[in-house]
Amino acid sequence: MITPDTVSKIFETARIDEVVGEFVKLKRRGVNLVGLCPFHDEKTPSFSVSPARGIYKCFGCGKGGNAVNFLMEHEHFTYPEALRYLAKKYNIEIEEKELSEEDKKEQSEKETLFLLSSFAQKYFHETLIQSEEGKAIGLTYFKERGFSKEIIIKFGLGYCPAKWDHFTRHALNNGYKKEHLTKTSLSKSKDHQLYDTFRGRIVFPVHNLSGRVLGFGARILTSDPKKPKYINSAESEIYKKSKILYGIYFAKSSIISSDNCYITEGYTDVISLHQAGIENVVASSGTSLTVDQIRLIRRYTNNITLLFDGDPAGVKAAFRGVDLVLEQGLNVKIVLFAEGEDPDSFCRNNRPADIKKFVDENSYDFISFKTNLLLEETGNDPVKKAGLIKEIASTIALIPDNIARTLYIQKCSKLMNIEEKWLFAEINKIRRQKFHKERLKKSAEEAELPRSALPDEQKKDVELQPADSVEFKEKELIRVMLAYGHKDIMLDAVNEDNRPVVVPFNVLRVLVEDIESEGLVLETPVCRKIFEELKSVYYNQKELNEQLFFNHDDDKIRKLAVELLTTPYSLSENWENKKRISVSTEEDNLKKTVFDVLYNFKLLKLDKMIQENLEKQNNEEDPVKKMEYQKIFKNLKEKRNHFDRELGRVVIK
Ligand code: UTP
Ligand code: MN
Repeated sequence: MITPDTVSKIFETARIDEVVGEFVKLKRRGVNLVGLCPFHDEKTPSFSVSPARGIYKCFGCGKGGNAVNFLMEHEHFTYPEALRYLAKKYNIEIEEKELSEEDKKEQSEKETLFLLSSFAQKYFHETLIQSEEGKAIGLTYFKERGFSKEIIIKFGLGYCPAKWDHFTRHALNNGYKKEHLTKTSLSKSKDHQLYDTFRGRIVFPVHNLSGRVLGFGARILTSDPKKPKYINSAESEIYKKSKILYGIYFAKSSIISSDNCYITEGYTDVISLHQAGIENVVASSGTSLTVDQIRLIRRYTNNITLLFDGDPAGVKAAFRGVDLVLEQGLNVKIVLFAEGEDPDSFCRNNRPADIKKFVDENSYDFISFKTNLLLEETGNDPVKKAGLIKEIASTIALIPDNIARTLYIQKCSKLMNIEEKWLFAEINKIRRQKFHKERLKKSAEEAELPRSALPDEQKKDVELQPADSVEFKEKELIRVMLAYGHKDIMLDAVNEDNRPVVVPFNVLRVLVEDIESEGLVLETPVCRKIFEELKSVYYNQKELNEQLFFNHDDDKIRKLAVELLTTPYSLSENWENKKRISVSTEEDNLKKTVFDVLYNFKLLKLDKMIQENLEKQNNEEDPVKKMEYQKIFKNLKEKRNHFDRELGRVVIK
C-alpha cells in the first residue's frame, strides 16, 4: 500500500493540465484550457481543464474530477495505478507498506494480463538483444532492414526463439498461469500441451496510449506461402484491435505539435518513418480505419494524411475507410508512393530530408485527388460522367461542416467542369435522404427502447433531476455552502445598546447554525456527508477550501464537489479570483442566494412534516390527541407561509 504521505505529495505535485495534456489536445482559453472531451463523442470542445483548481470537467457529458480521477476514468487505472503513474511522471519516490494477501488477490484479471504482456515483451526483447539465437537470427534481420539499435530499443522489438515452448515455460516458472497465457494468446494449447504462439518470429509489441503493452504482432522471417506473414494477438480483455493504432504512444506528442497524423499500413512503415525523424505516424495494421481509431486521432488533431502504396491495390485501400474519416469531420490528405514502394522501402532508399520533402510535396487533398483519379477513368463519356458526379457528391455529402462542404463543391465542380448547382443539388438530395433515414432509425430505436431499459449510467444522463426533488434542493444547498461559505453577508442584528445594526455574517455559519438549530437532516447520503464535513470546518474554524473536496478520499464526495462547483461560467473563475473576475448575479445578490436555498430546503422539509402530520391526524381516534396534531399543523403551515413569503411568492389559500 502506498503511504498517505506519498499520496499527498503526489496530489500536491501533479498538474492537471500536464496530466490531461498527455491524452487530450488542449488549447488555452483564458485561465483555463479546453479540448475535445475524450469521454464522449463531440466536435466542438466542451471539455475544460482548470490548472488553478486542479480539476477537469466536461460540460457535455458531465465527467469531472482531479488528475487521479482522470487517469482512472481514461486509462482504466485502479487508484494505486493512477498514483504510481503520477509518481513516475513527477519522479516522486513511492513509500510503500507491504501488500496484504487480500490486496494481492484484488489485483484484477486485467492487471494480470497487462503484467504478463509486459513480462513477455521484456523476455522477447532480451532474447533478441542477448541470446545467441536472437542475435544471429532476429537482430541480423532487423539490421539488414536498416533498423538502428536505438529504434529497436525505443519500440521494444523482440524475438521469440524457434523452440517449442521456451517462453511458455519461462512464464510458468515465473508464476504466470496457463489460463492467462492462452488469454493473451502468447501460448497455444495442443493436446493439453502449451507452446509458443510466436516461436521463430520477430515480435512487435503494441502499446496503448499510456505506453503499456497490450498485444503483439509477430513477423515470419522466411517466405513460406503456407504460413501467415504476421501472427497477431487475438482479441482479449486488454487487446481490442479496433480501438488501438500501432505507434500511437510514440506519436501522440508529435501529432499534437505538427497538427497532423500520418497513417500507414504496417508496423515497419511506422518504425522506418520514426527513424527518419517523422514521428507523427501510426499504422492501421492492414485494415480499414474504425470509428474508434479515428476518434483516437481526433483527440490530437483534425488532420490526417494517408500514406499508401502506389499500386492499384494501395489506391483502393486508400478509398476504403476514408468515408468514415470524412464523416467524423476530419480533413484527409493522401500521399501515394511509386508503384511497388511503401513508406518503409522509401525510407530505406532515401535520405531523411528527402523523405520529408517528398511527403510534403506529394500530399493531395483527398477529395480532389479522388475526383482527378476518377476523371481520368471517365474521359469524355457523358454516362460515366453522371456516375462520377454521383460518386463525388456522395463523398462530399459526408462532410459535416457546411463551409468545408461548400468549398469542396466549388473545387470539384471546377475540376469536373460542371456548374456548381448540379453538385449542390445532388449533395442536398443525398443529405436529405440520409437525414430522413437517421430520423427513422432513431425513432424506431426509441420506440423499442423504453427509458427503463437504459443502463443506470445512461439513465442518469438522460433524466435530469426535477427541480422540486429533495436531491436537487439538497445539492443546491451544498453548492452554495461550498461556493460561498467563505464569504460574508450583511444581516440585521442588535448591538449591546439594543440598537438595530447591520453586521457581516459568515455564510457557512448562517447555514450550518440555522439547519442545526432546527434539527434538520439532509436525506441524500452524499449531501449529508458533505454537510457533516462542512460542519466540522465551521466548528473547528478551519479554512473552507474547495481543494478539501476536490481531493477528498470519498469518490462520491469528490465527484459531487466537481459537479456542483463547475459551471461553464464558473470554471473561468478561480476560487481566490472570484472577487475580481466577472461577478455572477448570484454572487451579487448573495444574501438572496443564501436564503433562497435555505428556505427552499426548509420548505421541502416542512412539506414533508405537514404531510406526515396530516396522515397522523387522519389515523388518530382520540379527539384530544387529534387537537394536538391540528395545533402542530397550524404552526407548520404558518412557518411555511412565512418562508413562502420570504421567497417572494404569493400565497393563495
Ligand atoms: P504488409 O504486408 O505491408 O507488411 O502488411 P509490412 O508491415 O509492411 O511488413 P514488411 O515490410 O513486408 O516486412 C501491412 C500490415 O498488415 C498487417 C500487419 O499489421 C502489417 O504490418 N498484416 C499483414 C497482418 O496482420 N497479417 C498478415 O499476414 C499480413
Ligand atoms: Mn512493408
